[in-house]
Amino acid sequence: MSRERCVYLITSCKGGVGKSTVAVNLAFTMALCGQRTLLADCDTKNRTADLMLGYDGVGMFDLADVASGRASPVEAVLRDPRCEDLFYCTVPPSGEVVDPARAASAAVSCADAVGADCIVIDTSGGIEFPLAIYPDVVYDAVIVSTQSLPALRAAEKTGAELSHHGVRSLRLIINAYDGKKDVSYIDGLINKTRIPLLGVVPYDEHMRRGQERGMPAAAVEESPSPRAFYNIAMRLRGAEVPLFSGMRVRGRKKKLSPYRREDADDPGRDSSEDMYAV
Ligand SMILES: Nc1ncnc2c1ncn2[C@@H]1O[C@H](COP(=O)(O)OP(=O)(O)O)[C@@H](O)[C@H]1O
Ligand SMILES: [Mg+2]
Repeated sequence: MSRERCVYLITSCKGGVGKSTVAVNLAFTMALCGQRTLLADCDTKNRTADLMLGYDGVGMFDLADVASGRASPVEAVLRDPRCEDLFYCTVPPSGEVVDPARAASAAVSCADAVGADCIVIDTSGGIEFPLAIYPDVVYDAVIVSTQSLPALRAAEKTGAELSHHGVRSLRLIINAYDGKKDVSYIDGLINKTRIPLLGVVPYDEHMRRGQERGMPAAAVEESPSPRAFYNIAMRLRGAEVPLFSGMRVRGRKKKLSPYRREDADDPGRDSSEDMYAV
């Protein structure tokens, strides 16, 4: 494995928070930005990334085949027809028990085979898989939560468990943010989990519907999410990007008061632009 390769493992011990949505769209965005990216679908319970990308029904070898020598890594990789830098490999659809460490090592072989410099790993709810593969495959953990308290608590628990087992890089994505609350509300969410914030993805009905047709957000014209994933991809590359840069965030309008000159001078200014993710 090349030293420069980055591996992002998308996780939370809670299901339904948007892990696969984030994995698929982050991988797609990185590939669109020219990073050769392998999306490794390691949801051993209920894989969905193939559906979200429209690969359902495409017969292919899987990571269990690679691990057992039934197929070569290159035979188990699919290249996305829309984006030449995006590659995909997967665990078996269901039934077959896959050893996490062997599946992860097979995914790394697949990345080597196609020269991917980035691996995005989708996982099921629960942290058995993330714990089982670390530190054989050293990854940056991207913990996904919605803004709901149970999801945030699950994120906090996931971060604590991973950190306890030696995972050093932990970051949080707040997904399906409804924008109804003031932007300072995000501060409170960060404090609840104590995990550094990587980005915020809006609630996006267009993206959700697109997924049902096998389209990533970047291929859905009305979707506001591509910019959110672009910002996240840039931050992962080390760029300082304001939290909601380029995003249309609904939220309360600032009330103007004649006694607050700074507001009156620039009523259109959006304070959310000032918040930086880490
Ligand atoms: N930002 C979002 N806006 C709207 N719907 C979303 C968003 N993120 C996820 N969803 C929807 O929520 C459901 C669960 O998302 P999914 O990514 O499968 O979660 P997980 O992988 O954590 O189980 C899916 O129907 C998906 O389309
Ligand atoms: Mg999933």
